[in-house]
Amino acid sequence: MKPTIRIFKEANELSRAAAELFVALATQAIRERGRFLVALSGGSAPMGLYRLLARKPIDWTRVHIFWGDERLVPPENPESNYGQAREVLLKHIPIPSENIHRVATELESDAAAADYARVLKEFAAPNLDWPRFDLVLLGMGEDGHTASLFPGSPVDVTEPVIAVTANYQGRPAQRVTLTPLVFNDARQALFLVAGANKAVSLRGVFDDYNSSELIPAKRIQPTEGQVTWMVDEAAGSALTPSPSPK
Ligand code: 6PG
Repeated sequence: MKPTIRIFKEANELSRAAAELFVALATQAIRERGRFLVALSGGSAPMGLYRLLARKPIDWTRVHIFWGDERLVPPENPESNYGQAREVLLKHIPIPSENIHRVATELESDAAAADYARVLKEFAAPNLDWPRFDLVLLGMGEDGHTASLFPGSPVDVTEPVIAVTANYQGRPAQRVTLTPLVFNDARQALFLVAGANKAVSLRGVFDDYNSSELIPAKRIQPTEGQVTWMVDEAAGSALTPSPSPK
């Protein structure tokens, strides 16, 4: 299915639109399937969204929260994706603790990946070893990485969760990430991307010249679901033809 690209003038408009989509998807999933399965991302782009969600009318008892990737640091570390979501969102909403499925960062990376694969299996869709997420939130680094799928990493991964060692902006290197096997079974993948430093890679996502080995965000193409890109004007500035802001 063709990706949807929406370009916003301001980061807060982008967050508001993402929050609207989140609420709409949660409401629909709960109505149709009794629960909403969402994978959060790390990075700075979703923080505005998380703050807004804390005030939204969502039946949090029916929401299950996972992470698309995690850095192997304790939750108290500011680089923890779980920790940052806990501070701005999870602490402020009535969600049962058993609905929060964080990566066990106290384990070694391979063991943490195996443990998370087991957690995913508990929510598996028929004939799969992982759930069909209603929503996966993703970001993109300036090198085109998404979740913790970095340029040059193997494209044909056969595991739903893997341990990786990353070398990116001096950030924590040991990570666990879901793979495209899981992301591409999602009903909706939503990328939030802001900043001029992402413009060239973002153009690369949509052109035919760059391989998905070079730009891992290209690997995210849900088989039956949708991909939506919400980007700010700076990130979208190299897209051609430049879609008008909305
Ligand atoms: C992580 C992420 C990662 C992130 C991008 C973009 O844990 O590092 O999930 O893939 O989304 O690096 O991050 P920014 O939004 O901070 O640019």
